[in-house]
Amino acid sequence: MGELVRFSVSVDSDLLDAFDAFVANEGYATRSEALKRLMRKALVGKEWSEGAWVAGAFVMVYDHHRREFVSKLMEIQHDFGDIVLSTQHIHLDHDNCLEVITLRGMAGKIKKFAAAIRALKGIKHCSLVATTTGGNIA
Ligand code: NI
Repeated sequence: MGELVRFSVSVDSDLLDAFDAFVANEGYATRSEALKRLMRKALVGKEWSEGAWVAGAFVMVYDHHRREFVSKLMEIQHDFGDIVLSTQHIHLDHDNCLEVITLRGMAGKIKKFAAAIRALKGIKHCSLVATTTGGNIA
């Protein structure tokens, strides 16, 4: 971790007012905390767009009665076994399952994994949470 550095930013007062309202709304203690979070968000976005070594979580809800879907889902997870860290399966009710698959690997491969599952018929909802392994964003 580097030393603490102060810097000043010139900005339109209306933009600063809007940002301060955002800071208060989101519950940040200070502008600095909010700005640090946004800076890291930008850096994580850069990691993903440049195909870096990243982490993520793929979250989905599906009806487990669709046997063909479940077997294809397993097949994809085995095919991408080098990036799948864990799978958590929750039986939401009689029909619906929630699955959270945690991932770590090259961004491009994680995107391919997500696209392969997204293409399966039978998913009710799915979302890829794109995050970082943390090492490159201070
Ligand atoms: Ni289930």
